[in-house]
Amino acid sequence: MRTAANKEGAGFHAPTGEIEVLMRPRRMSRFGACLLACVVNAGAFAASGQQIYATCAACHGARAEGDPGLGAPALAGQQVAYLQRQLLYFRTRLRGSHQDDSYGAQMRAGSQAALPDDKAIAAVVTYIAALPKTGVKPGGKFDARNGNNLYQGKCGACHGGRAEGNEALSAPRLAGLDAAYIKRQHRNFSKGLRGAQPQDRYGKQMALMAATLASERELDDVIGHIHAVGTVR
Ligand code: HEC
Ligand code: HEC
Repeated sequence: MRTAANKEGAGFHAPTGEIEVLMRPRRMSRFGACLLACVVNAGAFAASGQQIYATCAACHGARAEGDPGLGAPALAGQQVAYLQRQLLYFRTRLRGSHQDDSYGAQMRAGSQAALPDDKAIAAVVTYIAALPKTGVKPGGKFDARNGNNLYQGKCGACHGGRAEGNEALSAPRLAGLDAAYIKRQHRNFSKGLRGAQPQDRYGKQMALMAATLASERELDDVIGHIHAVGTVR
């Protein structure tokens, strides 16, 4: 408000003081109109994000907590830029178009109609970003020491010490993703179902990294570690 008054110049120097100046009828109506417009705009934006998300909820869950039974990952707590990029990738077939990628194909089919353009993508991502973060409890047996060593040595530099992701490196949060989804993505990167297309520069980086784990057993330990350190408290 002070800035608005400052910009107006005269308002700031008025001997009556800032509060009184702002309460003048002419200013009040302008301020009131702006406030109303802002609230209405923000409301419309949120509503359309929410409406779009209703079509996603069938697979990703009402709170974007994911549904491992359907192969749909959690989206809550994920980085905005990453979600946006993935949705663009699905739309432009950089992701989910390999003939062996049946889960990617389901996602493309399930989201295509609801996300016709960048505006729709921005709206739904804004809605998802406001949902509370979810975590996954470590399940099954894993070697915690081995998982810690492998994760810190091969993944943590990009994905963060607590698997929280690193936006500056475009590396997503892993802590909220269920084990089966992480395994499938790891396999997709290794086998060229994801990250193999030349335009996919971030996926390419990850595809190189996927080769650094020697066995399924190592991956299980790493996943156990991710869930142990990434728990939402
Ligand atoms: C028919 C079920 C289905 C519907 C509907 C659906 N999705 Fe998905 N979604 C999936 C599956 C399955 C995957 C995992 C694909 C894979 O394994 O690569 C996925 C993956 C994603 C990813 C990538 C997540 C990551 O961590 O990389 C995003 C983002 C996403 N969905 C957002 C949406 C949004 C937004 C909508 C609604 C407009 C939506 N989805 C609708 C099933 C669905
Ligand atoms: C050089 C940095 C780097 C390293 C090291 C790295 N990653 Fe990644 N990872 C990325 C980037 C960047 C992406 C996002 C790719 C994209 O945008 O499609 C990614 C994506 C992923 C995904 C997909 C997440 C999702 O939501 O779909 C998984 C799973 C993953 N990494 C696991 C690992 C594991 C496990 C390790 C250690 C063995 C590892 N990463 C090491 C950079 C890295």
